[in-house]
Amino acid sequence: MLADKHILLIIGGGIAAFKSLDLIRRLRERSAKVTPVLTKAGSQFVTPLSVSALAGEKIYQDLFDLTAEAEMGHIELSRAADLIVVAPGTADLMAKMAGGFANDLASTLLLATDTRVLVAPSMNVRMWDHPATQRNLATLKGDGVLTVGPNEGDMACGEYGYGRMAEPLEIVAAIETALSDGPLKGKHVLVTSGPTHEPIDPVRYIANRSSGAQGTAIARALAALGADVTFVTGPADVPPPQGVRVVKVQTAAEMLAAVTDVPHAEAAVFAAAVADWRVSNAGPSKIKKDGNGLPTLEFAENPDILATVSKLTKNRPSLVVGFAAETDDVIANATAKRLRKGCDWIVANDVSPATGIMGGAENDVTLITADGSEDWPRMGKDDVAKRLAAKIAEAIA
Ligand code: CTP
Repeated sequence: MLADKHILLIIGGGIAAFKSLDLIRRLRERSAKVTPVLTKAGSQFVTPLSVSALAGEKIYQDLFDLTAEAEMGHIELSRAADLIVVAPGTADLMAKMAGGFANDLASTLLLATDTRVLVAPSMNVRMWDHPATQRNLATLKGDGVLTVGPNEGDMACGEYGYGRMAEPLEIVAAIETALSDGPLKGKHVLVTSGPTHEPIDPVRYIANRSSGAQGTAIARALAALGADVTFVTGPADVPPPQGVRVVKVQTAAEMLAAVTDVPHAEAAVFAAAVADWRVSNAGPSKIKKDGNGLPTLEFAENPDILATVSKLTKNRPSLVVGFAAETDDVIANATAKRLRKGCDWIVANDVSPATGIMGGAENDVTLITADGSEDWPRMGKDDVAKRLAAKIAEAIA
């Protein structure tokens, strides 16, 4: 499964670096190519010679290594691999990644890459539990970085808890999962996400509270199953996931145009919170307080993108999934919405302020299909996304 796969292995400065030697051996047993990068701190724990001998490859250590730059620049090095693995992923490396630092070879490679990254965290339990590390971890996950471990157990420092690096074979399994082709390989899936901004004048607009978190998580989960994802997003709070084709739009009209432009997709998920109305008398100049009373805004209804795609007679995706953001009679309204819009499934959620769902980290959804409804327990938006992506894979794979 890993034959001919190319892993760029970044070895950070932690006591678990010795396990990375075994990891190299396990990867090579599976015929993977391993290009090692050893940080300065990492070289305090394992020697460059042992790493490079085990990998059977040149080792990279310095950002300003002219010989290496002449052979393969650091940008190229960061992109040549199928996967970048950071093991041990120290607290310092995770902080650099989360902060976007590029002050040594490892952090520069991690910032320059467009390849997926898997981190095997390894550190003292207090460092792992520290809010800064947990914040960095959340940021990295939000950026689409994969993680394996840490495990619970005795630590080299004499303490007990979470922080032990995952075992080499666990890391190998995570690498295999990350590189697996997945059930959606070769399938094109369209995802809309985020709010839309409808201009009032050149400086003001009408928006809504959507953060784009749920749509982003869905795009990421579909890509993780191997889908070729086109992600059409309004101005969201969260950055788009890695490894998907991103089309940025502002207004509902632009979103419709972008969706219409996308080549045929096997499935489409409409998670965007599209503004229902736009200001039809939006002008080219800023509206001024000129003493002549309050301005009057006139509204026009925006095109319904979900309904437009659901009702296509030619090239309709075989599975169209809509969302229903409701504050009252959630199931009844969402069931009616599914029929009215003509989509196959509706993911219904209660967005009343008391639920904390709009802009929050969790979601509480009911999946409504032609066969009835399925109530899912409240869970993180990432987990909702994974479950929905798995269902989509079952339906169209
Ligand atoms: N949607 C869309 N284009 C619009 C409005 C909504 O594609 N102009 C999609 C959303 O992406 C979502 C679904 O339609 O998948 C339902 O959105 P929602 O805001 O719940 O419903 P509305 O159509 O706005 O209906 P209402 O305001 O009456 O609840």
